[in-house]
Amino acid sequence: MAIPPVLLKEDELLQDETTSSAYETARDISKYLLMHYGSIEDAFERPHHPLAPSHGLPRRLSEVLELVALRTGTSVSSVLDVGCSVGGISHALSTWVKDVVVGIDSSVRSIEVAQSLTRHGGGTFSVAQLGPFFREVQVTLPAAERRARVEFEVDDACALAAPHRPFDAVILSNVLDRVKDPELCLKQFTDSARILRRGGLLMVACPWSWYPEFSSPETWFGSSSNGTTSEQVLKNILSADLDLMLEKDEAGVLRQNPREYDYFEAHVTVWRKR
Ligand SMILES: C[S@@+](CC[C@H](N)C(=O)[O-])C[C@H]1O[C@@H](n2cnc3c(N)ncnc32)[C@H](O)[C@@H]1O
Repeated sequence: MAIPPVLLKEDELLQDETTSSAYETARDISKYLLMHYGSIEDAFERPHHPLAPSHGLPRRLSEVLELVALRTGTSVSSVLDVGCSVGGISHALSTWVKDVVVGIDSSVRSIEVAQSLTRHGGGTFSVAQLGPFFREVQVTLPAAERRARVEFEVDDACALAAPHRPFDAVILSNVLDRVKDPELCLKQFTDSARILRRGGLLMVACPWSWYPEFSSPETWFGSSSNGTTSEQVLKNILSADLDLMLEKDEAGVLRQNPREYDYFEAHVTVWRKR
């Protein structure tokens, strides 16, 4: 491999932008690069860290989808990874998806980083240490022929461009509680076979971590007024057109610095479209 490109320099982290929207700041990009591509050692810097089991969420989600595809006999040649960030789930999927994985995100910076990593087969980036200190992390991606099956594009999860052919599977990982209109986003996969084919699989992973800066409370799944939970509302929306194949929780972790981590548990469901 030629000299890997520098995806993010430490001075970008030091002067992190005050104007950037969510998921566009250098710190966000660095945290997602580490979560998607970093090793356990990169993330925790010491063995036996209490959060170590929550490492590797992109790989675990890919494995869950592969398991359901095998169990249901669903042939998966193409997958759409919605809200892919810097692309770790898309690359994990490329280990078993036959033809193509397309990752889309509204963050231009995330997509540019994902494309650069994919084109060059790796790269380096800085992660925050304590105070004004930084550490460099190197990422190496798999062989070029596998990377060639992964594409990244800027797109809006609530108004997805029509693909040439509908996908065999779609993943929405930790994105429904980040889009402006979560039900509208889901309806694109239920109301027609334009994006997800009949018999295809839909995976929804979400910690249901709703915040008004991302979506207005009227659009959130679940309500204290009638006691419905986000999990129930998701099932009400999807069960009209899809069958639930698997339900579980998967832990994930984003590292702020070596002494501070954001731990979450995503509710994971996999559905098959009738
Ligand atoms: C919490 S991150 C999850 C990233 C990745 N899917 C994962 O599970 O690690 C949410 C991602 O959704 C993206 N996003 C938010 N709103 C979006 C929209 N309307 N269209 C596409 N992507 C969106 C953000 O830019 C961000 O990369």
